[in-house]
Amino acid sequence: MSHSRSSRIPGFHRKPPRERLQIVADFAGLDAAAAARLADTGGLGLDLADHLIENVVGSMNVPLGIATNMKVDGEDVLIPMATEESSVVAAVCNAARQCYEAGGFTTSLSGTLMIAQIQTVGVADPHAARLRILERVHDVKAVCDGCDPVLLKFGGGFRDLEVRVLDTLSGPMVVTHLIVDTRDAMGANAVNTMAETLAPHVAQWTGGRVYLRILSNLADRRLARARAVWPLEEIGGDEVRDGIIGAYHFAAADPYRAATHNKGIMNGISAVVLATGNDTRAVEAGAHAYAARNGHYGSLTRFERTADGQLSGSIEIPMAVGLIGGATKLHPTAQASLKILGVTSAERLARIIAAVGLAQNFSALKALATTGIQKGHMALHAQNIALMAGAVGDEVDRVARTLVERGTVRQDVAQAVLEELRRG
Ligand code: MEV
Repeated sequence: MSHSRSSRIPGFHRKPPRERLQIVADFAGLDAAAAARLADTGGLGLDLADHLIENVVGSMNVPLGIATNMKVDGEDVLIPMATEESSVVAAVCNAARQCYEAGGFTTSLSGTLMIAQIQTVGVADPHAARLRILERVHDVKAVCDGCDPVLLKFGGGFRDLEVRVLDTLSGPMVVTHLIVDTRDAMGANAVNTMAETLAPHVAQWTGGRVYLRILSNLADRRLARARAVWPLEEIGGDEVRDGIIGAYHFAAADPYRAATHNKGIMNGISAVVLATGNDTRAVEAGAHAYAARNGHYGSLTRFERTADGQLSGSIEIPMAVGLIGGATKLHPTAQASLKILGVTSAERLARIIAAVGLAQNFSALKALATTGIQKGHMALHAQNIALMAGAVGDEVDRVARTLVERGTVRQDVAQAVLEELRRG
């Protein structure tokens, strides 16, 4: 087999996926079994995969688990979660079980508004230019709404205009915000088109030069909110409650802790966002920018005592997800996930996702404030280690259990345990 080590591969993008894979296999020395596994795109279909992104050679499969016990706004719902991380699905099940009888999660959404930004530089009189744009609000609306008649038909469209004069390293910039109701779409395509279409008008009105025309992922007009009460008898008493509240206070005070705290929240949120074919990076960017909106990076959740001493938790987070965008509409697993969730609007999806984020965070804080995270993690981690050591079938559980009992979850120990087991 000839190993060509050049990454300059003319026409690579024009070749069919199987040919591309062969080239990559030759380049990297992949054996036939590894190449075959890559080529198996499972439920996605190679043709579809090839249309979703560029230079496709295969797919990366991630497990899809279902979180049970969730009740959101009085309705029971099963949550599909796509993640490679152990304990994430179990955490949501546990948190949801502990607040189920008390009513589960109550949610709301601030709206389905997205923001597009138009950056204008070289404006002689930025403050007057700002007003010249604002005076044209009716023209702005007409241009924006003219871009997307389908969105209009579904009740969406241009809603508001905001213009800011930003003081920047390269002098003042006039930044125009188009605020658009994108309804059941995540909205990136809709608002980007509007920004690009409006840009020449903005250039003319301001006398400046337009550069960037793109949505903002800080979707702070699309805030999903969820709250729940966990009764003391469900969580194990007032010490656990105070431990969780203290953990929240730690995150609120310290960006080092807040980053981890919010990462845990995103473990749940990104898993549902991915399962439904939505843009995980958009939601993550929005979440972290929102967490820093006051100039100090803090917690996306809050925990307090209720008047009668129970634990109250809440979350507020930008949630730019849709039902009708590319992967959501095309990926069969995303479609199945939406069906499992039973959602028929982006609003309901966003609200459920916020509840999942809160559930995830509750479980993480409860574990951290009590037994520590490793105990729960280790049981599942031990299974991964057992698999890595070569366990198959029911050997996986038996090896994993022995590792946990011995308190050493390591691959060398797993190998030894597996050998003992096989010797009988
Ligand atoms: C691990 O993926 C997530 C946690 O670190 C979250 C947290 O610390 O709150 C357990």
